[in-house]
Amino acid sequence: MTRLILQGGGMAEPLDVEAPAGSLLIDAVRELAREGRLPLYWRCGQGTCGACLVHLHRAGNESKPVVMVGKERNVLARKGLLSEAERLAPSLPDHPDLPRLACHVVVEGEQLKVSW
Ligand code: FES
Repeated sequence: MTRLILQGGGMAEPLDVEAPAGSLLIDAVRELAREGRLPLYWRCGQGTCGACLVHLHRAGNESKPVVMVGKERNVLARKGLLSEAERLAPSLPDHPDLPRLACHVVVEGEQLKVSW
């Protein structure tokens, strides 16, 4: 299990939950959003609309290069969130400033802070 600390969309306090490692982030939080406990929105669920934009903050030494699939790279580049060089790079540094699509993020590690 991975501890998820979720905060965004005007939430007063972060929401702290556990999710199965290996699950997609959007699947891990889908029920919370449906219940109205999490103001995270998405449309396609397949990495094409760009609505599920998040930033990830990994715990200390859990950072590793990010390898995005082409669909995620293209959506982020189309939204002006990745440069052409970043879009073409084989991997990108894992940094909280790097935009990600929650429907492409695999939950892993001990703790993952997610903001939007
Ligand atoms: S929900 Fe559309 S890109 Fe993630």
